Amino acid sequence: MTSKEKQSNEYSADRILVLDFGGQYNLLIARRVRELHVYAEIQPYNKISIEEIQQKNYRGIIFTGGPNSVYDEKSPHYDPEILDLGIPILGICYGAQLMAWMAGGKVSSAEHSSEYGKTSIFTKTSALFKNMPEESICWMSHTDYISQVPEGFVITSHSVKCPCAAMENEEKRLYGVQFHPEVTHTVYGKTILSNFIFGICGCNAAWHMEDFAKRSIETYRESLKGKKVLLALSGGVDSSVAALLLHQAIGKDLTCIFVDHGLLRKNEGDLVEQIFRKFDLNLTRINAKDRFLKKLKGITDPEKKRKIIGEEFIRVFEDEAKKLGKIHVLAQGTIYPDVVESGRGDSAVIKSHHNVGGLPDVMSFDSIAEPLRDLFKDEVREVGLQLGLPEELVYRQPFPGPGLAVRIIGEITEEKVKLLQDADLIFREEITSAGIDSMPSQYFAVLTDLRSVGVMGDARTYGYTAALRAITTEDFMTAEWTRLPYEVLERASSRITNEVPGISRVVYDITSKPPATVEWE
Ligand code: XMP
Repeated sequence: MTSKEKQSNEYSADRILVLDFGGQYNLLIARRVRELHVYAEIQPYNKISIEEIQQKNYRGIIFTGGPNSVYDEKSPHYDPEILDLGIPILGICYGAQLMAWMAGGKVSSAEHSSEYGKTSIFTKTSALFKNMPEESICWMSHTDYISQVPEGFVITSHSVKCPCAAMENEEKRLYGVQFHPEVTHTVYGKTILSNFIFGICGCNAAWHMEDFAKRSIETYRESLKGKKVLLALSGGVDSSVAALLLHQAIGKDLTCIFVDHGLLRKNEGDLVEQIFRKFDLNLTRINAKDRFLKKLKGITDPEKKRKIIGEEFIRVFEDEAKKLGKIHVLAQGTIYPDVVESGRGDSAVIKSHHNVGGLPDVMSFDSIAEPLRDLFKDEVREVGLQLGLPEELVYRQPFPGPGLAVRIIGEITEEKVKLLQDADLIFREEITSAGIDSMPSQYFAVLTDLRSVGVMGDARTYGYTAALRAITTEDFMTAEWTRLPYEVLERASSRITNEVPGISRVVYDITSKPPATVEWE
């Protein structure tokens, strides 16, 4: 990598800064602001200086919650000068306590006043509480509370247990709420955020995906003029949308390499190819099944499988890229949650997720283009639809980079890949024909390494056991197993054991995450 320079696509209209103090709802807060058509940007409190905040001309700032107590020295703090910048601030939960503490108020901890869950609050007249009744339900989750508001502040809301559920200094446009307006359980949460963003910060609702796509295409048409751009297409939503967007900007100067490792779902490689051929995209598909299977021969350890696939993917991509001559820019389908997560990144590695993020380190490009790095997944989908991608691709369920390799327990062989592809297709067909595609967030079949005795006709069978998995989740960090109708499971089981010779038993996985993960490996 010669340079880490990024081809920027920075948004210039009204922006809200979400200053992240480590709360669990940081993404949700930004999401809610964007639903109101105002661009929200998350920055960890220790990664953005007060000078930068001033330069960036934010219309408002939201302090997120956090897991700590303001009196704990190790807990996140910020330069109190932020309160004097003249930018409106809304502090949420820990963010409100921090605001109170920074401005000279008092925060106390008392077990008897801790609140968790739905709580009634009583509000006074305030610009923040316009268009809502005096009493309403909100979501509380706190032990500490503001026991004395700073000078210049007044209390604008309370609950039975909490004397200060909200405070404000109207003149300085500083607001703090102890509850969580971003959570749907807070009935008037959207109203409160909208009062802050429009009424108090004076933002215009100008963040629309249509404009985003148009603007990005124009920006990249200009900044990538005369450059050769390369993108690794996986067939997933993110890389597909990034590819189409850049294709519309620079046409044939974009080359997409689609590495088919032979571990995709049945017919998936052909489907991806067909879709992109229709758009006349400069696409090279590499059928590298044999190469991958050879490397995976005899490997049973899940982490080793993942590593081998990740590395081989890079090798194949590299070999192909070399044939193309000088490439100036590497394009990637990085999206906003990836950016935010890697910015925090100190959590334990449960599984080494493979994605093309590792590519630039081994190859030489002048710069990287990440056209979707400001977007949430559903915004990416919206852009995809606007660019004409078919719904089946745009709304496709997530599929792991290492593909079926992490759904085949034990050694991977060509025969096992075929068994799993056939079983998985049947399961998906049965869910679709029952019209319940949107019931689980993700569903698939797994081929276990377990064989068992069965009987078919008068003969003994000794085939593999397939497991079916369907999960329901908002964020894939935690998940519930989906209560699929018995009839659907019955049809899938009966068809798989009849139509896939080699599988003689089907089980349904009823484990949630945690303790299990979504994928089996
Ligand atoms: P786990 O198994 O970690 O899965 O609970 C959570 C979600 O992530 C997907 N997944 C992956 N996605 N590369 C990916 O791009 C990977 O290596 C990978 N492993 C798991 C999984 O399908 C689920 O949606």
